[in-house]
Amino acid sequence: MAESKYRTILEAKSGELETLKDKAIKDSWQPIYHIHPQYGLMNDPNGLIQLNGEYHVFYQWYPYGAMHGMKHWAHVKSTDLVTWERLPVALTPTEEYESHGAYSGGAIEKDGQGLLFYTGNVKYEDGSRSANQCIAMLNRDGSVEKYTHNPAVQGVPVGYTGHVRDPKVWKENDTYYMLLGAQRENETGALIVYESSDALQWSFKGEVKTSLPDFGYMWECPDYFKLDGKDVFVFSPQGIKADGHDFHNIYNVIYAVGTFDVESLTFEMEYYREIDKGFDFYAPQTFQDESGRRLLLAWIGNPDVDYPSDEYGWAHALTLPRELSLEGNELVQKPVEELNKLRDQAVHFRGTLKNEEVIIDEATNNAYEINMTFREIAAKQFGLELFNSKEEELRLVFDTEKQEVRLDRSSFHHQYATEYGVVRSEKWTASNEVDVRVFVDKSIVEIYINGGTIVFTSRVFPKKDSKSAVNVFAEGSVDYRIDYYGMSRGIS
Ligand code: FRU
Repeated sequence: MAESKYRTILEAKSGELETLKDKAIKDSWQPIYHIHPQYGLMNDPNGLIQLNGEYHVFYQWYPYGAMHGMKHWAHVKSTDLVTWERLPVALTPTEEYESHGAYSGGAIEKDGQGLLFYTGNVKYEDGSRSANQCIAMLNRDGSVEKYTHNPAVQGVPVGYTGHVRDPKVWKENDTYYMLLGAQRENETGALIVYESSDALQWSFKGEVKTSLPDFGYMWECPDYFKLDGKDVFVFSPQGIKADGHDFHNIYNVIYAVGTFDVESLTFEMEYYREIDKGFDFYAPQTFQDESGRRLLLAWIGNPDVDYPSDEYGWAHALTLPRELSLEGNELVQKPVEELNKLRDQAVHFRGTLKNEEVIIDEATNNAYEINMTFREIAAKQFGLELFNSKEEELRLVFDTEKQEVRLDRSSFHHQYATEYGVVRSEKWTASNEVDVRVFVDKSIVEIYINGGTIVFTSRVFPKKDSKSAVNVFAEGSVDYRIDYYGMSRGIS
């Protein structure tokens, strides 16, 4: 009989985990400074919190290979957001109320201790499902204990299907609120709220009233926070059709900005947008750190998609931590400044391109940062090529005629998810100057344009034996200035 994918790590056979680890570590596509699993599949970031100076990041994890099965919470911590230490698995779903996995959720601090909230996923033989909302304590020494009175919320409220999950809790005016992603019985996505005076006993408050009553069939991983005088909701709606530059991945993520009245649960939305325009970005979560910054991490991956690295028995990574702000009508995402710690000495490149392509670096080890500007732009198109070899390259193209920026991974030999297209794009207004910051980590690329107002997060799987050059090009003329840094290891 085939082995069940609902097996916890406690049921590993002798030597099984070591074998998995040995196989995954041989993969040169494994990143060196992005949080990733040593083996098995990771998905959403969970329980983000800074407690007692230390940053804790948990993530959804299935140990036994690159597939979605019994989800655990894996755990890493850091004092500087760039060097990460692996800790023992935080949540192993051993109880009936979480019989099919410890699903996603957030964290808060209460009385000097961390409280973790998560969804106990339950499936029944007839194919139906339910969800329980659960709590665990994060102690100062990093250990995690499940709350003895779990589940804190049993089952789902009337009017919703079994798809209710991903608690995100915050405190406002002495009341705790728990926001959940949900599916109404008419199979549309929604956000619902519970409230509590002690963060342990919860009662159903109602549904958030938005101006998006029929926007996809399920909303996952909701988040809510105040940012620069506005209220922001972030969530991952499923079932939205591609439209112009938007919604090209299997599932996508939006932020919605406006004013939220928590008493009446009314959200007056001003606008919504996609957070990230890349191929691989889902299920972000934010938290406020002790210095007051609002930081975001997301899963660099998509559900229901197979990846070229799957054969090594590991999958996915998390984005670099990004500091958020709202400027004008735009969300701005900046990689945290602590990342500078991982840089080697800078190498500088300067020049003018005139209808040509110039090699900046001939053979990188694919772990670097580029911080650059294009100036004096008098070109139809110009841009950057990463992972460039004779056969393949990732092209970032600024198109002054179409007023858009494109990321094109069509030339790669290792393709995946091509049914969702091989190019991503975003509106871009040509001006005299554009700045671009790029982080490459083996098979991960994060691109921040114009100070983080346009962001593309993607995977690419270059051929293992090919050279990886960095090129700049222009059809027309443009000046460029590049600071190039090798990046050192942040996680083993
Ligand atoms: C999003 C998600 C969440 C769920 C988790 C399960 O990727 O589907 O809604 O809690 O993954 O791993």
